[in-house]
Amino acid sequence: MTTFTQEPEMTVMPDEMNGNSAGGYDANVTEALTFVEERIASRPRVGIVLGSGLGSIADAVENAAAIPYGDIPHWPRTTAQGHAGRLVFGDMEGVNVVVMQGRVHHYEGYSAGELTFPMRVLGELGISTLFATNASGGINLGYKPGDLVAVYDHINFMGINSLAGRNNEKWGPRFPDMTYAYDREYLEMLESAAMEEKISLRRGVYIAFSGPSFETPAEIRMARVMGADIVGMSTIPEVLAANHMNIRVAAVSCVANLAAGVKPEKLHHQEVLDSMTRAACSMERLLRAFLRKIS
Ligand code: HPA
Repeated sequence: MTTFTQEPEMTVMPDEMNGNSAGGYDANVTEALTFVEERIASRPRVGIVLGSGLGSIADAVENAAAIPYGDIPHWPRTTAQGHAGRLVFGDMEGVNVVVMQGRVHHYEGYSAGELTFPMRVLGELGISTLFATNASGGINLGYKPGDLVAVYDHINFMGINSLAGRNNEKWGPRFPDMTYAYDREYLEMLESAAMEEKISLRRGVYIAFSGPSFETPAEIRMARVMGADIVGMSTIPEVLAANHMNIRVAAVSCVANLAAGVKPEKLHHQEVLDSMTRAACSMERLLRAFLRKIS
């Protein structure tokens, strides 16, 4: 009979789950951090992640200095269409920001650890706020393409949790709370910012599937019953990492299309990009008004 005198030790598995069986995840974060620190004049306070088709918002950054993802050691490369792939440092509305112009997704083949890597580096750089944006499909039958939705909760249906693997206690606890994953004060700020800017902003629950296929109509009906208003393939991995690191999160989604089966027509990625390009202007206005509130 085998008796354990102490907890069985976790060995190779967790680091592999972090996508870093060789070299060490934390050391890679430190290497990327050092590389970035050497190239920026001041530390950002707010991290902004621009989703599909929203990359043009980075043009609004003043005193901008850009670092392509490809130059940063260990930084996962974006392969999705509509994602430029660089960090833009500078200011917006007087706030020191770092913009991630493009993100990586689970469907590109990235592991849990690779999906959290950018957030770990931004957290180490000292951001205390994350403003995440994305494109989504509208599940709620009251939504239409072009609508902006402030995310107030999520359903992680991706089949992975980006915090799986060895936990670094320096970043956060093993079992982080997600009751207020989307900061309540920020939600109110977003709503009053939207009111001031005369932008219609809804409040919704975001569900993420892993993709890359769009969902089936049956999956969308299931998601609606489960309480989801919008559907996408991103954001949750970084929101989990941000919360883990005690970074406050605001997330705004733009409804790019009605989700599968809401209309008889098939879904096309081009439709998503076109809607997002049209919505970029109101997203930028909302972001600016939000930044003025927290400055
Ligand atoms: N499903 C998943 N992700 C999406 C969609 C969708 O309908 N639209 C934009 N991103």
